[in-house]
Amino acid sequence: MRYINIENIKDDMVTAQNIKDKYDRILITAGSILSRQKIKQLHKFGIIGVYIEDTWSADIFIQPVVDEQLANDTVKALEKFSLDEIYDCASEIVDRLMHCDDYMNDVETIEAYDENTFEHSLHVAINAVTLGIGLGYNFYRLKNLAVGAMLHDIGKQLVPLEIITKNGRLTESELSVVRMHPEFGYNILAKDINIYSSTRAIVYQHHENWDGTGYPRGLKGNEIYELAMVTHICDVYDALISKRSYKEAFSFQKTISIIKDGLDTMYNPSILEAFFQYVPIYHKGTEIKISNGDNALVFRNNRGDMLKPVIKLKNSTLIDLRTSKLEIIS
Ligand SMILES: [Fe+2]
Repeated sequence: MRYINIENIKDDMVTAQNIKDKYDRILITAGSILSRQKIKQLHKFGIIGVYIEDTWSADIFIQPVVDEQLANDTVKALEKFSLDEIYDCASEIVDRLMHCDDYMNDVETIEAYDENTFEHSLHVAINAVTLGIGLGYNFYRLKNLAVGAMLHDIGKQLVPLEIITKNGRLTESELSVVRMHPEFGYNILAKDINIYSSTRAIVYQHHENWDGTGYPRGLKGNEIYELAMVTHICDVYDALISKRSYKEAFSFQKTISIIKDGLDTMYNPSILEAFFQYVPIYHKGTEIKISNGDNALVFRNNRGDMLKPVIKLKNSTLIDLRTSKLEIIS
């Protein structure tokens, strides 16, 4: 199974999964041969990519640890803002990620549609927990992290929709309203005594930068709550790698280079290092270009060095980039 951007989809490709619209209705079933008509339909429904089956990717299996059912339950719990359900989903996500083989969470983080805040929150939570596991956190800390990461942008509910969904650059005054969302979020949660204090701290501090240039308080270094720093980097990663109303999805290389630029400015250096060690940055089954000019598929990630996955060439050769001079260039 491999992922193809909508622009690269061709007639006769075979779908690997049901393709659904944003209301969860099946548009095209798994195993269908894509015709010109069906491809037009995908464009019409705003689908930005699909998983297909072919011989090149026949031995690549993508089985998200957080499967469709749990992902849907979590998104619904967030939409309803049902705390009991959010805590249950957080426990389940942590439990599954802690007990999956080699922590390879094959998350289908490549969104099929435009931005959905709750799906973004779920992706941030999954990556934050994965990073937290790498950092050696215990179950309870991971659960706190998951809940905080799921709710990190809850304050955006109080930012006017026309600002949130605006195409193009925000004005200074619009930006200052957006920058109030951590405080808005903190205030929403402060009303509920059942909210963990760690959740409030994550929500309040997830835009603070290591060098003190963040907001709302301009906290610096270890003044920033560690779980907020973990959430911060995972939030930025998901925003970069995904399509947004104001930008296309960035390539892996561009995403990695922007995150690396945040060393010593935006992120705690040891958390940044752990991010590249433990969070699957290259999504399994995506096509990449390597330094000898060949195209390859991401075959398997290497826990400990996520920048150097095992890749599969068109002739089926597998190359572990940890022991090769080849590099991914795009
Ligand atoms: Fe935010």
